Amino acid sequence: MKRRTFIKATASVPFTLAAPAVLRAAGKRTLRIGVITPASHFWSECMVRVGESLNAKTSGAIETTVFPSGQLGNEPTMIQQIQAGSLDMGFLTVAEFSNRIDDMASLFAPYLVTNVDDAATLLKGPTATGMLDQYTTLGMKGLGFGLGGMRHLIALSKSATADDLAGKKFRITPFAPLRDFYDLMEVAPTPIPLPGLFDALANGQVDGADIDLELAWKLKLFDKARNLTTTNHMMFPNVAVMSGRVWASLDDSEKQLVAETVSEELDWLFAQYSAFDPKWLEDLKGTGIAVQAADEQFFGPVLDEWSGIWEPKAPSIAGLRSEAASL
Ligand code: BEZ
Repeated sequence: MKRRTFIKATASVPFTLAAPAVLRAAGKRTLRIGVITPASHFWSECMVRVGESLNAKTSGAIETTVFPSGQLGNEPTMIQQIQAGSLDMGFLTVAEFSNRIDDMASLFAPYLVTNVDDAATLLKGPTATGMLDQYTTLGMKGLGFGLGGMRHLIALSKSATADDLAGKKFRITPFAPLRDFYDLMEVAPTPIPLPGLFDALANGQVDGADIDLELAWKLKLFDKARNLTTTNHMMFPNVAVMSGRVWASLDDSEKQLVAETVSEELDWLFAQYSAFDPKWLEDLKGTGIAVQAADEQFFGPVLDEWSGIWEPKAPSIAGLRSEAASL
């Protein structure tokens, strides 16, 4: 039987703030948080930190259990659980939400930003923050966007431009804006769950993958795919959401506590990507793989064609682009 690891997040620091009134009156509250990533991934760690911080700030009144590695189901399943109120919170890919809210595709507009620091600024800016309100249409409270780095191409063989990719098969995370991006390059977008990606590259099921530096390093993809093109073509944001039912059961001070704590730990997450992205790139170079840097030119007309499809469906692209232009 597969062994499951739940992470109980209790405070390791002395409590400093008074517990909110409702929590004191109602006694303990336990929050369950689901994430798709393994326990060692920064997204999982971020949610453990949220739990520890809430526990400390409420003198133990809030306890949190984080379920990593999709133990409660895949992201569509967790979204249903959050909607039903059987799961309190999720830290989920915006990619999955873009399959339900077209405007979330705005955050995947190619070359909105080209590095993790600008991505963090944009994801905390007024346009993105305003987009969080759209999660109410799904019965959720959007608490804040996080980040999983920038996307790049890792492949079995070298490509000078996107034209060289035509006819190949690339692993993608399955969501419409990215599928269109690959379709426009005439690359067959192939959805493969992360745990199967190494083998898919090893047995030639795919020729490459759309990936971030963290996973290229941690999943050891460089062992099989020896060509990395650092394109920085998209951000890969995620979002902390709370069940609308659970949110409605909190009083104002509890809501503020949860929102502030999530925001503090999202800042921690952004700082990790800022510190580690350059390190992962150096680590990858250290393995002896071929690394080439590329920019918008690599993709030629694909970028305008993508905008032609998505600008009419994703109105926040305009606001994000104008904010990004002043970074
Ligand atoms: C991916 O599908 O590439 C992915 C999923 C979760 C976290 C980071 C990346």
